[in-house]
Amino acid sequence: MSGAMSGAQYAVEAAGIEKRYGGVVALRGVDVRIREGAIYGLIGPNGAGKSTMFDILCGITKPDTGTVRVLDMDVAGLPAHQVARRGVGRTFQRTAMFGESTVYENLLFASYGSMRHSVAARLLRLPVWRQDMAAFAAKADEVLVTCGLDGLRDQPASSLAYGTQRRLAVAIMLMNEPRVIFLDEPVAGMNENETASFIELMRTVAKGRTIVIVEHDMAAIGALCDEVLVMVDGRPIVNDTPARALKHPEVIAAYLGADDDEPA
Ligand SMILES: Nc1ncnc2c1ncn2[C@@H]1O[C@H](COP(=O)(O)OP(=O)(O)O)[C@@H](O)[C@H]1O
Ligand SMILES: [Mg+2]
Repeated sequence: MSGAMSGAQYAVEAAGIEKRYGGVVALRGVDVRIREGAIYGLIGPNGAGKSTMFDILCGITKPDTGTVRVLDMDVAGLPAHQVARRGVGRTFQRTAMFGESTVYENLLFASYGSMRHSVAARLLRLPVWRQDMAAFAAKADEVLVTCGLDGLRDQPASSLAYGTQRRLAVAIMLMNEPRVIFLDEPVAGMNENETASFIELMRTVAKGRTIVIVEHDMAAIGALCDEVLVMVDGRPIVNDTPARALKHPEVIAAYLGADDDEPA
C-alpha cells in the first residue's frame, strides 16, 4: 500500500484498519493518507466509525488489524505524553484543564514536560531554571496572542465562556509545538460567533501544520478542509474536496438514510 516515498509525503498514514467491538464491526478496512500541511476532515453519519478511526489515528485505540504512522512513528505503541512531546497535539471535547488555575498557569503546566530543569534547580533558581522560564514566557505570550487570550491570562479557566475555553485547549496544545493536530468535534456546542472565531483560529494555526478534524458541522468542514474522507458504516466511501464529496450519490444516500445528520 504505502510506497517507498510515503514517509516524507504524508503526516498521517493508515492502512487496512479494522476494528470490532464484540459483535459490532466499527471499521471494515480503512486506508487514510493525509498530506503534510493538509486540513483533513473525517465525516459521515452517526455510527460511521469516525470517532473510532480518530482514536486509532491519534494512538488512543489500537486497531485489530492494520498499521498507523503519524510523523513516521508507530503511535499505537507510545504513551500519551511521548506522543505529545514528539509533535502530535490532540484536543477532545473535554480536554483536561485545571479550572481553578489561571489561563497562564494552565499554559505553564502544559510546558513542564518539555522543561529541562529539576526541582532542585527551581528551588535554587539556577540558570537552567531561568532559561526554561524565559523560553516559556516568550512562547506563552505568542500563544496567548494567537489564541486571542492575551487579555485573559489571569482569569481562572473555569470562569471563561465555553468558546474561550475551547481556545484555551488549543493554546495548551500549542505550547508543545505540535506539527500534527487532531481535533474531535471542536465546534460542537459553540454558538455562531464562537464557531466563526474558532475557524479563524484554525486557519492561523494550520500554517505549517497538518490538521485532522472530526466534525458534524458541515459549514465548518467546508470552510476549513482541503480534503475530506466520508465514512459510512465502517467503510471509506469518498476521498475528495468537501464540495465534491458531498455531491457524491452514495454520500447523499447515506445522509438521507441517517436520522440525525444532514450535510449543509
Ligand atoms: N467502545 C465501544 N463499544 C462497543 N461499540 C462501540 C464502541 N465504540 C464504538 N462502537 C460502535 O462502533 C460503531 C462506530 O462508532 P463510532 O466510531 O463512535 O462512530 P461515529 O463517531 O461515526 O458516530 C458504532 O456502531 C458504535 O456503536
Ligand atoms: Mg463519534
